Amino acid sequence: MKNPTKVDVLLGLQWGDEGKGKVVDVLTPRYDIVARFQGGPNAGHTLEFDGKKYVLRSIPSGVFQSGSMNIIGNGVVLDPVLFRQEAEALEASGVDIRKKLHLSKKTHLILPTHRLLDAANEKAKGGAKIGTTGKGIGPTYTDKISRNGFRLGDTLLDLENRYIQARDRHIGMLEALGAEIDRDALAENEKAWFDAVKYLHTYDIVDSEHFINKQLNAGKTVLCEGAQGTMLDIDFGSYPFVTSSNTICAGACTGLGVAPNRIGDVFGIFKAYCTRVGSGPFPTELFDETGKLIRDLGHEYGAVTGRERRCGWIDLVALRYAIMLNGVTKLIMMKSDVLDGFDTIKACVAYEINGEQTRDFPYTIEGDNITPVYKELPGWNCPMTQMRSTEEFPENFKAYIEFLEQELNVPIAIVSIGPDRKQTIVRDTALLK
Ligand code: GDP
Ligand code: IMO
Ligand code: MG
Repeated sequence: MKNPTKVDVLLGLQWGDEGKGKVVDVLTPRYDIVARFQGGPNAGHTLEFDGKKYVLRSIPSGVFQSGSMNIIGNGVVLDPVLFRQEAEALEASGVDIRKKLHLSKKTHLILPTHRLLDAANEKAKGGAKIGTTGKGIGPTYTDKISRNGFRLGDTLLDLENRYIQARDRHIGMLEALGAEIDRDALAENEKAWFDAVKYLHTYDIVDSEHFINKQLNAGKTVLCEGAQGTMLDIDFGSYPFVTSSNTICAGACTGLGVAPNRIGDVFGIFKAYCTRVGSGPFPTELFDETGKLIRDLGHEYGAVTGRERRCGWIDLVALRYAIMLNGVTKLIMMKSDVLDGFDTIKACVAYEINGEQTRDFPYTIEGDNITPVYKELPGWNCPMTQMRSTEEFPENFKAYIEFLEQELNVPIAIVSIGPDRKQTIVRDTALLK
């Protein structure tokens, strides 16, 4: 078995929604454990197989494959109410979720008032709002970092008092922001929250850092599933238009208690073009018919909020930066089929900033002084969704892959040509089980 004592990490290299859920599901048969290490129900990971579609929010995308154990790690923020909805939907579709999932004691909980704070913070920012998913992510991580957080393990010790303390502190903050608080709605949400915490207690709540390290020492294999994408990373993304966690590979170490020297392969996943949802700069964004066409062909609407995703050409400056930050060893290209009908495809190879060209990602991509420098490539103009091997690929698509590999200096191990499990072509034979 490859890398018996290492963990592999799969993460998004763009602004999220690259197709992480689909590929984690495809790769799961190679692993004993699949673990989420950051983010929360702001994530929406879509899987399709046997004609059915599933969207996972906080639960790892390994749950549909038999044999794997799944972990929600300490770096994740968990909304008990949304978790319960997600888990019950899985149970209804026949997944024995309780048997397949461990929850970390150190996972921080999202309270109903965190969601109110998320909305109030956004309102206070006015036109400069981040366009969050509204799931309370920022306020929950803020409480964690300011050492006011409420962890799942704490609910086993002192649920009621800790909750009241946190809620009252939040209410003070909401009042300071001038937010109106609907007390009846809050009371209802609190009831659902307490019921959901009791529901959480029916799961295995574990010291997940010990669990994972013991499993690794016993030779078990682990795949860590990133959420969001590198360009939304709290340190390296387009700050402040980012999420509140470290989405990069290093986040797998802190979010699971896995030492850096345990990291094995890093799978970096990207779309054959780019999308972004919410506010913030996006150098290759297309505001024309081509952008609309990509949105329609790629069904680019948010899995969580249903919002339109902004679309544009692939940005190799940002991708090179993401590959560097994550130490990507293998690339995975998604949604190649969306470009099936184009005569010409563009790829941004450099930025022109104040008249100078750079291939290095700059401090900020805000402002209108950044002009993408595009290379035009001939399209393949042929449907690929039914293809099942690399030999069938059209020559111009093969040339597109080779061009990307040269630009990015990392091999493309998997190419995806449709949303279904079957529409996944593995180029790296070492990945075939
Ligand atoms: P994630 O958040 O990274 O897991 O990605 P999302 O699930 O939010 O968004 C990816 C979307 O693209 C989902 O609707 C998938 O079903 C779909 N998808 C994934 N791979 C492909 C592909 O190769 N081609 C097409 N057309 N759709 C895909
Ligand atoms: P997956 O895992 C795409 C974006 C939001 C917003 C910013 C901050 O499905 O790829 P937050 O609610 O996290 O405070 O919002 O981050 N965002 C995502 N965009 N995919 C996601 O997750 C995202 N999770 C958050 O739109 O711009
Ligand atoms: Mg998504």
